[in-house]
Amino acid sequence: MKPIRKAVIPAAGFGTRFLPFTKAVPKEMLPIVDTPTIEYIVREALESGIEEILIIINSEKECIKTHFSHNLILEKFLESKNKTLELETIRELPKKIHVEFAYQEEQLGLGHAVLCAESFIKGEPFALLLGDDLYVGKDIPATQQLIEAYNETGASILGTLEVPREDVSKYGICKPCTNEMGTLVRLESVVEKPKIEEAPSRLAIGGRYILTPAIFDFLKTQTKGAGGEIQLTDSILRLMSKESIYALSIQGRRYDIGSKKGFLEATIDFSLSRKDLSEVMKEILNQH
Ligand code: G1P
Repeated sequence: MKPIRKAVIPAAGFGTRFLPFTKAVPKEMLPIVDTPTIEYIVREALESGIEEILIIINSEKECIKTHFSHNLILEKFLESKNKTLELETIRELPKKIHVEFAYQEEQLGLGHAVLCAESFIKGEPFALLLGDDLYVGKDIPATQQLIEAYNETGASILGTLEVPREDVSKYGICKPCTNEMGTLVRLESVVEKPKIEEAPSRLAIGGRYILTPAIFDFLKTQTKGAGGEIQLTDSILRLMSKESIYALSIQGRRYDIGSKKGFLEATIDFSLSRKDLSEVMKEILNQH
């Protein structure tokens, strides 16, 4: 069984839920306090033991690339001013991990975005992290939880969470095999954004996956599904006819950064958990 060493982060979407901000700045650059959302996602991958990362962008989103590169002019400036803390803040991540980029110029759907990673993946199983879903894992990072389940099963794993029935049509929804119970369950099927009355459960895919490379065989021939897009979930369903696929319920707190509520919640919670800002945030909240 090959180990999970690589991760893919799709970041080429328009981010229409966050207009007008996303007209000029990618939603992945939305800051949670002082750090872009996508940096938290990259750090989660890194802390989960991932060695190589590919971010899928488009040519309007070059600033994501800039964020993960060395900025020698800024580094020299900070050095000359003896701003060692700030210098370490911007130097540390590019030193720890090399991030690669691929381009998806047409927004044909998540399945199409993942297909753009095929030549980077080179036949290995890999982790997929969606940038809208930010996790604070309980004890261990969300992606590491999935990797541990993969090490146990050798199969593709979908990270899940339970959502209220009225929200099922916003997610990919899983149907576990009969009699499967607990945090890790084998799946019988998945369906992308079902109508409430057609949803097989409330077990939603929460933006974290481990996928075997066989997924690419199905993505290549995937026709359009929900919303007229090439859906990853539809290829996962087809992969299920060939390989077992499991759902793991992720232990931890999830923030849906693509929604304004999730973004605001993350801003408050991340401030409260920081030594330098918790008192300030408490003071602000008490004033309201
Ligand atoms: C995507 C996936 C969906 C998943 C969701 C999680 O949908 O297609 O299966 O449940 O992410 O955030 P999107 O939110 O991009 O429409």
